[in-house]
Amino acid sequence: MTWKSIGIFDSGVGGLTVLREIMQVLPQEDTLYFGDTARVPYGTKSPETVTRYAGEISSFLVKRDIKLLVVACNTASAVALPTLKRQLTIPVVGVIEPGARRAVEVTRSGRIGVIGTAGTIRSSAYTRAIKRLKPNVEVLTRSCPLFVPLAEEGWTDNQVARLTAEIYLHELKEAEVDTLVLGCTHYPLLKQMIADVMGPDVTLVDSAEETARTVAAILADKGLLRPPAEKGNHSYYVTDIPAGFVRVGNRFLGGGLGDVFQVSLDDDQGGA
Ligand code: DGL
Repeated sequence: MTWKSIGIFDSGVGGLTVLREIMQVLPQEDTLYFGDTARVPYGTKSPETVTRYAGEISSFLVKRDIKLLVVACNTASAVALPTLKRQLTIPVVGVIEPGARRAVEVTRSGRIGVIGTAGTIRSSAYTRAIKRLKPNVEVLTRSCPLFVPLAEEGWTDNQVARLTAEIYLHELKEAEVDTLVLGCTHYPLLKQMIADVMGPDVTLVDSAEETARTVAAILADKGLLRPPAEKGNHSYYVTDIPAGFVRVGNRFLGGGLGDVFQVSLDDDQGGA
């Protein structure tokens, strides 16, 4: 069991920000990354559709004998996590709970902002997770859909990104949140811009970082960590042709993206 891989999935390239943190915290672990590039984005789709996609991808990864599943996509974590946890026997880690936990730890004023895709914000999953941990905090939310294409285009540091951030974040800034959860895989790429717009008094919570720490803690707790001297291998599966994923992915991962294989989930349904 210890030697099995960690499975990670996302709607596309964004989950590589989560993989990047996991590789940093657990360099000894093998990983299997799945990006559903043929069906991205998930942020605009209904909970029913995203839950169905998440189920298909999870069975693909479980057939490849993973020891733990990370739902790197915030939208999928927001709407599909309970179903996946019910269906699977391995540990399933989403990005919402770790981000919520950290936000509650760092807020001083009790006013927490959350930004994410339309689907994530509509689900209220972050608000519920935060309030479960600390009922008397105030949670203000805002969907920022244009941050996704900006991050993929590499427009993280120009006037378009700044203006977009100023418009999206205006109300949260006015409301004087002291903590802002980056509730989408793509937002860590815009971290500097978001920090500039929100100002020095606001602490940004990166769900990707917190999730990596949670994965390490669960594996340690279950005695499933590979010896620290090992060096992990990393495989990548996508559902559309790999070219776009490779081009954008290296930026999200910080370089070093390995071989990327195109797979069909339809072919996979019959058995591994
Ligand atoms: N990965 C998605 C998320 O974190 C963003 C991209 C999409 O909408 O699929 O919510």
